Amino acid sequence: MIGVVATKLGILTGGGDCPGLNAVIRAVARRSMVRDYEVVGVQEGWRGLVEGLFEPLGPREISGLLPRGGTILGTTRTNPYKIEGGVEAVLGWFQDEELDALVAIGGEDTLGVAARLHAEHEFPVVGVPKTIDNDLSATDYTFGFDTAVTVATEAIDRLHTTAESHNRVMVVEVMGRHVGWIAVMSGIAGGADMILIPEQPVTVERACEELRHRHHRGKDFSIVVVSEGYELRYESGETRTVAEEVRDQFGHVRLGGVGEVLAREIEERTGYETRVTVLGHVQRGGTPTPRDRVLATRYGLKAADLVHERTFGRMAALHGDAIVDVSLQEATAELKIVPREWYHVASAFFG
Ligand code: F6P
Repeated sequence: MIGVVATKLGILTGGGDCPGLNAVIRAVARRSMVRDYEVVGVQEGWRGLVEGLFEPLGPREISGLLPRGGTILGTTRTNPYKIEGGVEAVLGWFQDEELDALVAIGGEDTLGVAARLHAEHEFPVVGVPKTIDNDLSATDYTFGFDTAVTVATEAIDRLHTTAESHNRVMVVEVMGRHVGWIAVMSGIAGGADMILIPEQPVTVERACEELRHRHHRGKDFSIVVVSEGYELRYESGETRTVAEEVRDQFGHVRLGGVGEVLAREIEERTGYETRVTVLGHVQRGGTPTPRDRVLATRYGLKAADLVHERTFGRMAALHGDAIVDVSLQEATAELKIVPREWYHVASAFFG
């Protein structure tokens, strides 16, 4: 579309923040600066390209970023396709700023916009898969996920000792939106006695039965991990999703609160004293784990290479141990749900 040789590169972070974003920014910028690119940060996700919010990224700006949580560029859930004149503004600012390429770091929403802009306008963009939810298909893991699982596992470990001391059921609500990756992985790692995720239609009655069984085996305490997107199900066939009515520009409702409802149900149905802990945004804050720092760094270098080769419309991805590139369209076409086999690993320890 614009320019022949890429010399000015923009970097954008969109959607929910996540540990490792700054590590990607550092890697993209470092590799590109060596190649004499001018690197510019687009502030506040796609909003920065709708409104023209930019900042120069030089050696000083990217120094010390590797262990730093959040994103120095800021982020929003702005969707240019939901704003009147939004797409035209993105294309206009991109041209006015004399950008030759963009690295978009984000999840299904941010990268969905990138894929569409590329398909419809040959927009020169490369994607990097970010999200604690790990729900992007076409990559084995997104960066940020390992940190979230580490935080959740540590919380479960801590809840074990207090649960045991008081003979209580502890319900732990974790994030993950429409998929249960954080719940399943932290639940396996933390030895959860029951895990409830959107992908598995386990009823409240069945969950309570497993807890009773465990108590009859002489274990007076239990840990229940519930994913925020789990739909409460009952043997009557009734279902209930706990969410706020408000929707973001990508149409997502705000989840959260299922843990509280579930805890009340468990206490009423079993008679076991039950408490709930909602982990919330602590899963997203703070420094990335070494694994996420390494993955983010490898993704960033790959994205810079794709830009340099002018291979646009692609996303850096992890396949096994190799960093590869995949089509942005393919990567955003469907959510990566937790396969049954993973749930079976977890359920071997229920009850
Ligand atoms: O997509 C990441 C995520 O943390 C989800 O797990 C969660 O549902 C959502 O973002 C929370 O969004 P917000 O930060 O806008 O409350």
